[in-house]
This record gives sequence, C-alpha cells and structure tokens, in this order.
Amino acid sequence: MLWTTVSLSFEIFTKKLRSDKEMCGIFGCILKNGSAAPIIHAALKRLEYRGYDSVGEATIENGRLFIKKDAGKIDVVHSIRNLDDLPGRIGIGHTRWATHGAPLQVNAHPHFGCSDPPTIAVIHNGIIENFAEIKKDLEDKGHIFRSKTDTEIIAHLIEENLGQGDLKSAVSSSVERLQGSYAIAVISAKEPDKIICARNESPLVLGIADNAFYFASDTPAFLPLTNKVVFVENGELVTLNDEGFEIKKLVDGKPVVRKSRVVDWTHEMAEKQGYPHFMLKEIHEQPRCLRDTLRLQDKYLELLTTFLDRARDVAMVACGTSYHACLAASYMFSKLSFLATHPVIASEFTEQHGKSVNIDSTILAVSQSGETADTLAAVETARQRAATILGLTNVVGSTLTRVSRVYIGQQSGPEIGVAATKTFTSQLSVLSQLAIRLAKKRGKISQEEIDLLDEKIEKIPSIVERIVKTQEEKVKTLARKYKDNQCFFFLGRGISYATALEGRLKLMEIAYVPSIAFPAGESKHGPISLVELGFPVIFICPPDETRKTLIGNIMEMKARGASIIAICEEGDEEIIGMVDDYVEVTRGIPEILSPIPYVVPLQLFAYYMAIEKQCDPDMPRNLAKSVTVK
Ligand code: M6R
Repeated sequence: MLWTTVSLSFEIFTKKLRSDKEMCGIFGCILKNGSAAPIIHAALKRLEYRGYDSVGEATIENGRLFIKKDAGKIDVVHSIRNLDDLPGRIGIGHTRWATHGAPLQVNAHPHFGCSDPPTIAVIHNGIIENFAEIKKDLEDKGHIFRSKTDTEIIAHLIEENLGQGDLKSAVSSSVERLQGSYAIAVISAKEPDKIICARNESPLVLGIADNAFYFASDTPAFLPLTNKVVFVENGELVTLNDEGFEIKKLVDGKPVVRKSRVVDWTHEMAEKQGYPHFMLKEIHEQPRCLRDTLRLQDKYLELLTTFLDRARDVAMVACGTSYHACLAASYMFSKLSFLATHPVIASEFTEQHGKSVNIDSTILAVSQSGETADTLAAVETARQRAATILGLTNVVGSTLTRVSRVYIGQQSGPEIGVAATKTFTSQLSVLSQLAIRLAKKRGKISQEEIDLLDEKIEKIPSIVERIVKTQEEKVKTLARKYKDNQCFFFLGRGISYATALEGRLKLMEIAYVPSIAFPAGESKHGPISLVELGFPVIFICPPDETRKTLIGNIMEMKARGASIIAICEEGDEEIIGMVDDYVEVTRGIPEILSPIPYVVPLQLFAYYMAIEKQCDPDMPRNLAKSVTVK
C-alpha cells in the first residue's frame, strides 16, 4: 500500500511561489532495529530552521516503499498525517523551502519516478540549473512528471538509468548530468538495504552511531543520536547500509577514506532550554558565547593577523548580518590598525571586483553557516584568480572552512533562530580581537590604548549580561508602545551605522516592519522628508567622537515631530533629556567595541515587536537560516 493516500492534487496550501532560492533540510537513517519514521520526524524538526513549507518521509519495509508528504509546517502535517507510523527501519525525510513549484503537497519531497506504485524515492537540497533540458529529454522518452520541481527529474533520471545497472551506478550516472547544487538521498524498494547519497555544493554530513547510520544537511539533526560525524565533500557519492558507509569520488569511483570527527555540541545546546523561542534563548546566550570568543586559540588569531598584516588590501565578503559585522570591522581595522578594508555584499562581489581581484588580493569571508551560496560564490571568484582566502565562520567543517587558507571558528554553538543574534556579536568580538592584534603588530596605537582595549574586551560578556538583565523589561514596554508604528528609522554615525543596519534588519525580518537605516548625516539628503508627527526614529548614541554631530541630527528629527528612542550610555543626561524613550548601556565602552553591547537592545526590541505582532520570531516567513543557493 502506498501511503501517499491523499490526492496529490489536494492543494492545502495557497502561499504564492517564493523567490528563486531553496534551502531545505534532509535526513535519513539505517537502523539496526526499530522504526525509522519517528527518528526522521524528530530530526526534521531539528532541521526545520532550514525551511518549513512542506515535509515528507519515505521508508522501506519488506521490499516496499512507503511515502507520506504534505504542505505545511512539520507539526501541522504530523497532526493530520502522523509522520511516525510509516513502517521500516530505513528511511529518508525532507523539510522544504520552496523554489521550483509552489509549496503544495505535489511539490513536497520525496519525489519518485513513473512506476506505480513508486519504487524509488528521492530527496534533494539545492537547485538543478539544467532541469528544464533534462526534463524535456525524459519527457521525450515517455516520462510523465507530476510536480513543478527540479528535484523530480532526478527521480526519473535514476529510474531511466536503473535499466543499465544497480542503484549506486544509476545514481552516479544520473548526477553526472546534473548542473547546479545538490545534496540528494535515494532509496529503492528493489535494493531495500541501502541509501545512496551524493553531494555537490549543498551540505551533507554523516552521523555514526553503534546501532545506526545517519545522513543530514547539518549536525544539529544528529545531536541527540550521535556526536560522531563525517563531512561529505563535493563530488562524492555515499552508500549507507547495515555495515556502515562507503564514500567514493564521483569522477572516477575511487574510494575515499575519511575518519569521523567528534562534535562537541550537545543536544541540550540545540534545545530551547525553557525559553519560548530560540531567538530569545540565543540573545540570552550572548555573554557565554562572547566569553568563548575570548578563548579562541591564539595560534589561529595570530596566523590570520599575519595574513592581514601582509595584505595590500582586504575585501570582506558576507551577506545579511555577517555583512554588518564586516562593515563594523572596516571601522575597527581602519581606526586601530590603519588597514584599509572593503566590506562587500557577497552577491555583488563578482560583478564589482571579479576582474580586479588577483593574486595580491586578500579576501576575508564571514559567514555564520559557512554555507551561504553568495559568499561561497564570491570566494570561488577570488580563488580562481589566486587570491588568499581567509574565513570566519561558526560551523567548522562547513564549505567555507574547507576553501579558506586559514579560518577561525567563532564557537557560538548552533544558532537555530533564523535571525542571527549571538553569532553577530561573536563575529564582532573575533573581528575586534583581530583588529587589536593587528594594531599591536603594526605599532599603530599606544600601549596604553591597547591595554585599555584588552581590559575592556574581557568585560564585554558581563556588560552584555547586565544589559539583558536590566533593560529587557524596558524594551518589552517600548515594543508595546511602538507596536503599531508602520515604519522606523535607525540612525547612527561612524561604527554605529553598522549597529543601526543590524537593528533595522532584525526588526524587518522577524516583525515585518519596513524600516530604513542610514548614517545619521544622510537624513537631510532625502529621508527626512518621511518624518512627520510621531514617526519613530531610533538613534544609536554611544559617547564617541560622533556624539556631538549626532545630537544635531536628533534635534533635526525632534523639530519635525519625530518620536525619538535613544540607545545611549547609562546616565547620559543630555541625550536622555532630549528624547522620548531610551535604553541604557553600561558606561565606558570604547567606540570600537560599542556595536556589541549597543546591538543587544535592538535585538530585544525586534524580538518583542515580533511577539506583540504575533509573528513567529524563529521562523519568519520567506526566510531560511542558511541560504545555500544563489
Ligand atoms: O550564514 P551567513 O552568516 O553567511 O548568513 C548570512 C545571512 O543570510 C544571514 O545573516 C541573514 O541575513 C540572517 N537572516 C540575519 O538575521
């Protein structure tokens, strides 16, 4: 009996087709005993941050394939279809973020070929760029397609190639035809003892336990099951069976010997630990994460600093929040170590610098996940032109760590909330340590200044702890007051411009409030025309050299009736006296380190605005944690 009992045309989802990206989470297992389906279901929940448009599972028992899939978040689909009652100890599962094909049941994974009942099931994370051409070929050969996805062609291609050999060789020759990104997994009712996986660009990790073998898009999927992992590389084919796993190079079939690694993230680290949302838990975790960044291995910091010191110019490539960290870092490197760096939005790098980057260029790529396709594409452009690649990431073993000459793992632990919070402040901490080291190396600032910075950076974790403790209730009240405002300005000068951009991104992405951030000096060049009575403007006001001019900008806004919210130093009576609302940050923070504590009230503000507006801060619509396609 086929478990896709619901009609495939049953469209319970009416969301419109989303933009041209696909993330998705994949997971599968071969257990020695027991039932695979509940384990797949639980693992998909842990991967839900990668996409949550639809979910599906396929298992094998007694040489038969069982499939369940539907549109909607995992909990919703499970409540209707019970994802746990598929039979068998071998299975695969998928949680989707839609691209090719709307988020409908028919487009949910697994996909299968023409045979009825289906004999093979395929799940996929990535995008097949030449799917239209392959689809046409297959249609000419008589294949009939059900879905609008690119993935379905893989199932039909394997079905076609199965005529000439076993499942492994059929998968191998099928992926040879694919252009684009993929991490795929395939099971077949005719070879019911194995799972075949292949990888190009999209992440794929194996999990090794005593009684089971797993694969997944990401390590958090395994955490309650095992901490022994093996990272699969691009161009590799994996066979999992009762005996273990075998990795081969797709290009020549040569076996790959790779030892497993032990990851030190615990299952508890990936759970909510009593917080209502991962985002809030991760905001509260920042003191611990910042402490961990102060324990980074000296030799890596030193090595990276040496590369930066030798660099003629440095492009810092990143997306979203990681880009904001780069922007802040450009002020740090310039002010402390007199190093010119260029923060570049990764998706623009090839257009903007593709021709000028060369053997003398140094690229510092910053990516929490280490898998962001735009960042990796920028790195690839630079690599092809022999540039030196340096990396900063939270995921050791990610693609970025493999393509970097030297990298630093920022050690924030898994970040599950789609909005980056703790990983942003950790990135800032690592980047400021690099800037301070480089300043020392270059002798650009006095020993007293260095000593002061060293002393202050040690205090940042407890400062952040105090801000969360003393200001959270106040921020909650502010969110209640401003929840109905339709648009916000976020303004700062100097390094606080990066803080403003980050505060604005947080508010937009999780509370869906259109907002604008720009350097405060730009107001009079256009944006101020939006301001009318009650228009909320958030100013980032650390007591640095920009303060005096910033006060002028506050006055300009006030004169036009804006409601001013200041993020200012504790007891800064001048600012407090002129604004409508304020949140206080501990005194005595050097300008270079100020984005770390000053962004915390903005993270909390975005979180509580999302709560007030009844938005899910962990899973904002249309977004996924890791954007693994361009
Ligand atoms: O994993 P990365 O740091 O490369 O991710 C970059 C962006 O996709 C990411 O920061 C995104 O903007 C987040 N949603 C921000 O909260």
